[in-house]
Amino acid sequence: MSKPLNIGLIGYGFMGRTHSNAYSQVSHFFDTEYKPVKKAVCGRDKEKAQAFADQWGYESVETDWKQLIARNDIDAIDICTPNNLHSGPAIAAAEAGKTILCEKPLAIDSEEAEKMCEAVEKAGVPNIVWYNYRRIPAVTLAKQLIDEGRLGKIFHYRANFLQDWTINADLPQGGAALWRLDAEAAGSGVTGDLLAHCIDTAIWLNGSITDVSAMTETFVKERMHNLTGKMEAVKIDDACAFLCHFGNGSLGLFESTRYARGHKALYTFEINGEKASIRWDLHDLNRLEYFDHSDDSVVRGWRTVHITDGDMPYMDHWWVPGLCIGYEHTFIHQVADFLKSLETGEAAGPTFRDALETQQVCDAVLHSAKERCWTDVAG
Ligand SMILES: NC(=O)c1ccc[n+]([C@@H]2O[C@H](COP(=O)([O-])OP(=O)(O)OC[C@H]3O[C@@H](n4cnc5c(N)ncnc54)[C@H](O)[C@@H]3O)[C@@H](O)[C@H]2O)c1
Repeated sequence: MSKPLNIGLIGYGFMGRTHSNAYSQVSHFFDTEYKPVKKAVCGRDKEKAQAFADQWGYESVETDWKQLIARNDIDAIDICTPNNLHSGPAIAAAEAGKTILCEKPLAIDSEEAEKMCEAVEKAGVPNIVWYNYRRIPAVTLAKQLIDEGRLGKIFHYRANFLQDWTINADLPQGGAALWRLDAEAAGSGVTGDLLAHCIDTAIWLNGSITDVSAMTETFVKERMHNLTGKMEAVKIDDACAFLCHFGNGSLGLFESTRYARGHKALYTFEINGEKASIRWDLHDLNRLEYFDHSDDSVVRGWRTVHITDGDMPYMDHWWVPGLCIGYEHTFIHQVADFLKSLETGEAAGPTFRDALETQQVCDAVLHSAKERCWTDVAG
């Protein structure tokens, strides 16, 4: 028996599109009891919201997220707005008993994120945060290999997320598309935007981070603000690097910047264990590199595994061995797992509480950089 899950989407930008695509596709490829129904999209500009609704097949439009949450025909609220507009809708949706899917980072800071956790837990509503990179089949496979003990004791975790789109000093801050440069809307720069992804994956694969030592830099100190029309100080971190200890005794090294000329979205990680190592690269997302020390020495070396066979995570839902999937599929996988979790009652991570841990690491990183000292991760 199929059950509808009526979705109310807030924000129809980049993520609004990836999520809408996932709602449209998921039931063609995954067999779940709950089926998403694109019930309403909410945006401040009615005409643009209507155009989005027409293009993506939403049944109706709202211009005020409070009205959307008040509707009895909406089961789940999906929050795809800038970071400063996650907590308000999430807490209101929890109080209204709605299921919630929220974009990352969960909030502006841990204090706000903690309140969101309390709200969903008090209301007992299903919740998930869109740290979608967990659901790239190669990354999910890395998790399986680690959990099977194939790497043995882990010594090192290394991750980078490199971009180059803010090098131009004439790029303004604030408003549509450029809210990421405005600390009011974003909370932080690359730490909350990019490193948060690396931290979520790292905690998932390698366990909790206990303490950090970080440095940040803002290369362009002033930019014109689109909302005020004035030159204003840039308060986000343009680049961030940090060292950390994990609870399992391994050492971590993370770097992110929007000033790495030539890199658009180079998310990579490498994990070194006593028996084996793993390496992954978003630009080649269907491959996992693997080095197994137990191989015969004459053939021992890094091997590249193409993650397309039907026995690889999620791949039995797609095409035939050898044929690739892409970025958009990570969102479809997340929706599929979330719908399944509604059926089984077993939460699909990362929950708000999981995402709070990532937020606490981000806060510790920013504190460490500001105070120039090692900082324990709260929690
Ligand atoms: N999971 C990922 O990989 C990933 C990738 C990109 C962005 N994100 C996150 O998704 C969120 C949105 O980012 P984006 O890239 O889609 O941004 P975007 O600028 O493309 O879209 C933001 C949308 O929010 C809308 N909005 C702003 N204020 C609103 C309000 N008061 N009421 C209703 N709508 C409002 C805007 O009109 C726009 O449609 C951010 O939290 C970001 O960090 C996650």
